[in-house]
Amino acid sequence: MSPFLLTRTLPEDATDAALRADVLEGLTRTPKTLPPKWFYDAHGSELFEQITELPEYYPTRAEREILVDRAGEIAAATGARTLVELGSGSSDKTRHLLDALTDLAVYVPVDVSESALTQAGHALIEERPGLNVHALIADFTGALALPETPGPRLLAFLGGTIGNLLPAERATFFAGLRALLSPGDALLLGTDLVKDEQVLVRAYDDAAGVTAAFNKNVLTVVDRELGADFDAGAFDHVALWDSANEWIEMRLRSRTDQTVKIPALDLAVDFAAGEELRTEISAKFRKEGVRTELSTAGLELAHWWTDREGRFALSLSVVR
Ligand code: SAH
Ligand code: AVI
Repeated sequence: MSPFLLTRTLPEDATDAALRADVLEGLTRTPKTLPPKWFYDAHGSELFEQITELPEYYPTRAEREILVDRAGEIAAATGARTLVELGSGSSDKTRHLLDALTDLAVYVPVDVSESALTQAGHALIEERPGLNVHALIADFTGALALPETPGPRLLAFLGGTIGNLLPAERATFFAGLRALLSPGDALLLGTDLVKDEQVLVRAYDDAAGVTAAFNKNVLTVVDRELGADFDAGAFDHVALWDSANEWIEMRLRSRTDQTVKIPALDLAVDFAAGEELRTEISAKFRKEGVRTELSTAGLELAHWWTDREGRFALSLSVVR
């Protein structure tokens, strides 16, 4: 096999059709919503990388600390020959796992962002001449068709991206993952933890305004792909803590009464001044909640590791 393969599991027009369906559904309901996967065009992926470097955004540093400390234990517990990573982005923290997994035959990064996959894939094969990378452009909320690769397989879902799914979506997602795993395979899951509200809100409303730009990028994506005339400057970035649901919510608040035209959908969408469009939830977890969600899907939490400040957790479930 060539050391870098890129497979598109969805035809390009399926992405276009999915965006149209999501925008039509999300902007004609009350309250208005858009799914967070549309943040990640090339610019959005780059903005996310900038977020990971912000002083206020602790999850990436906290998860890296756990990976540095525990990668050896993860490798020993799984003996993985295939590492599949969902929402892999830059695969930056993954390098700690790749270093520790000495029997690894192939790394399968899965992402909707083609730019993130090609950049990460090319960098990895250059750095690690022996590594086979089979990247998949795919939506992890759909049915995943993974390539035939040697087991045991370690499925990693890092960064706390699981928190960007609603509880019902998470249940469907975990059940789908369980169906992909065979005895001896394992799931490594990163979850951000419930903590002080101010710390959380600052992480999603940074002083430099990078998260605001990331949030507004979804409007640029809809403008470019569907010919819409969203003016990002006519919306304010909002990040708030929903204590009942224990999630951060990112919204875009209309500054004025305005009508946005979306020619590809033959649609005009009215926004009242102050009206908010929800663009993301980022759920924060507790150990028992994670254990319950996993066990509901038939996965048993075997290890739970946190960073030294207890901000973020990695959990490992090995399938019996
Ligand atoms: N795992 C990396 C990146 C997290 S950012 C880290 O921990 O830093 C979230 C990543 O998931 C982005 O690269 C984004 O493109 C991808 N993503 C978001 N929704 C997705 C979906 N539905 N299917 C596949 N990838 C998705
Ligand atoms: C990818 N995901 C885990 C990030 C998060 O923290 O929910 C996305 C993000 N949104 C705003 N900042 C970062």
